[in-house]
Amino acid sequence: MRISSVLDQWSDEYGPIYGINIFGNNHIWLSDDNIANELLSKRGALHQDRPSLHQLEDSQNAPEYLPLLGYNEAWRRQRKLVTQVMAESVRTRHHNIPYLELPQMLSELLSSPEDYQDHLENYTSRVICRLSYGDAEHFAQIRAGSHGLIQAISPAKHITNIIPQLKWLPMWMSPWKKEEARRHADERVFFLHTVAVLVDQMSAGTARWSYLQQCLENKTEAGISDMECSYIVGMIGLAGVLTTSTAMMTYLLAMSLYPEWQTRLQNEVDTVCGDRMPELSDAPQMPLLRAVVMEIMRWRPIVPSDIPHQTTEDDVYDGYFIPKGSYIHPSPWAITRDTSMFPEPELFNPDRWLSPEYPSYKEPLTEFPSIRNFTSFGYGRRICMGMNLTENEFFLAMGGMAWAMTISKKKDVDGREISIPHHDYSQYLISRPENFNFQVKPRSEKRGIQVEDHRRAAKALLDAPLKAERQEVSEKLVRVA
Ligand code: HEM
Repeated sequence: MRISSVLDQWSDEYGPIYGINIFGNNHIWLSDDNIANELLSKRGALHQDRPSLHQLEDSQNAPEYLPLLGYNEAWRRQRKLVTQVMAESVRTRHHNIPYLELPQMLSELLSSPEDYQDHLENYTSRVICRLSYGDAEHFAQIRAGSHGLIQAISPAKHITNIIPQLKWLPMWMSPWKKEEARRHADERVFFLHTVAVLVDQMSAGTARWSYLQQCLENKTEAGISDMECSYIVGMIGLAGVLTTSTAMMTYLLAMSLYPEWQTRLQNEVDTVCGDRMPELSDAPQMPLLRAVVMEIMRWRPIVPSDIPHQTTEDDVYDGYFIPKGSYIHPSPWAITRDTSMFPEPELFNPDRWLSPEYPSYKEPLTEFPSIRNFTSFGYGRRICMGMNLTENEFFLAMGGMAWAMTISKKKDVDGREISIPHHDYSQYLISRPENFNFQVKPRSEKRGIQVEDHRRAAKALLDAPLKAERQEVSEKLVRVA
C-alpha cells in the first residue's frame, strides 16, 4: 500500500494535524491547506529549516543542494542569487526554449510511444539543460543525475533516510555510504566540468545566456565560489527534470482513461489556435487547457509527501504543541483528497476548476485556474522556485500533445481494450506512473507533417550559434513556421 494512502487514512482518523514519533524524531503531518499555510507561510520564521537527510553527507550545511539546505546563510545567499537568475528567465519567457524543444518530443512520441518515459524525460532534460548551460550538450547526464539524487533522498530507496542511527556506521560496514560516496563523486566531476566548459565559452565569446553564465557573472557580488555556482545550477537542473516529466506522463494516463476530456481539450485548441500549436499568449483564452493542467497536478500529486520543513522554536497551533526540531510534512496527497474542497477526489474532473458549483472554482477564467502557489509547490519561504517555468512547460507540452495527437487505450489481438491501472505509481519522493500501454495517433496526416516541419525549423533556431542571435530569436518569441 502506498505510504501517501496510509497517511490519508490516518488524517481521516486523527484529523488534519497529527504527530508520530519515528526513531526518536517527532513528525507532524498536515492534511489541510489552511493549516499548512498558517504554519509554514504566516508563521514564516519558525518552520523554515530542513531536517538532515541522512543518506547524504551533510545536506543541511554543505552548500550543495539548495532545496535541502537548512535555514542558514548558505541557503540565503543561494536563494537570493537563484531569485535573480529566475526573474530574468521569467522575463524572457525562458527564452522560448520550452516551445522550441517541444516539436522534437511530439515527433518522438508519435514515432515510438512505447518509449514515452524516455521522450518526456529527454524533453524536460533538454529544456532545463539549455537554460542551465546554454545548450543541450549535458542533457543525458542531467537526466541520469536526477534519478541518482531522487533515489538517494527517497525513504523508499534507502533505509538510512528512515533510521538516522545507521548514519554512524563506518564506511566499510555501510553499503549505503559507499553508494552515496560514488554518486556524489561522479556528480561533482560532472558539475565542475560544466563550469570549465562555460568558462572557456565565456572567454571565447561564444557563451549563450544561461543560468550558469548568470551565476558566474554575479558570483563575486553574491559571495559565491565557482564550485558553489556549479551546484546551484546543477541542482536547478536536477530539480527540473523528473518533477515536470512526471506530470506529462500523468497527462498520457489521464487522456487514456478519460477520452471525453481529450475531445473537449482538442475542441478548445482548435477553436482558439486554428491549425497552429498553442502558444503562451493563448493562455488567457484557454481555461480548459489550464484546468486540465491543474487537475493533472491535483489528481496525482508529483511530490505526494512534499519535502519536510523543520521547526526551529517551540510553537503551539490551535492547542497543539509543536516542539522545536519537529519535522513538518504538509501532505499534498491528503490535501488534494479533501472532499470539502474536491468532491469525489479520485475522479479526474477538470470541471472542478471551471464551474461555479465546485468549491475550487475561482474567477476570472482568463486568469484562473493557475498552478502557481498550488499546494504541490510547497509553502512559505521555501516555496518552489520553478513554478513559472513549470507552468509554461505544462501549458505548452499538454497543449502541444492535444494539438498533435490523440491518445487512447491500446487494443489486444482480439480487439479488446488493454486495461490501464489508475494507481500504479512509483514510491520515490517524485512519484511517477509505472510503465503503461497506450496508443498514439496523429490527429491527421497533415498534423504529422506539421510536427516534422516544426521540429526542423525549431532545431535551426535552437542551434543558432551566438548569444546575440539567440537573444533576438527569443525575445521575438518566434512562432515556428
Ligand atoms: C511540477 C514541478 C515541480 C514541483 C511539483 C516542485 C515541487 C517543489 C517542492 C514541494 C518544493 C519544496 C517546497 C517547500 O519546502 O515548501 C520545491 C522546492 C524547490 N524547487 Fe520545485 N518543483 C517543481 C519544479 C521545479 C523546477 C522546474 C525547478 C527549477 C527550475 C524547481 C526548483 C526548486 C528549488 C530551487 C526549490 C528549493 C526552494 C528552497 O528550498 O528555498 N522546482 N519544489
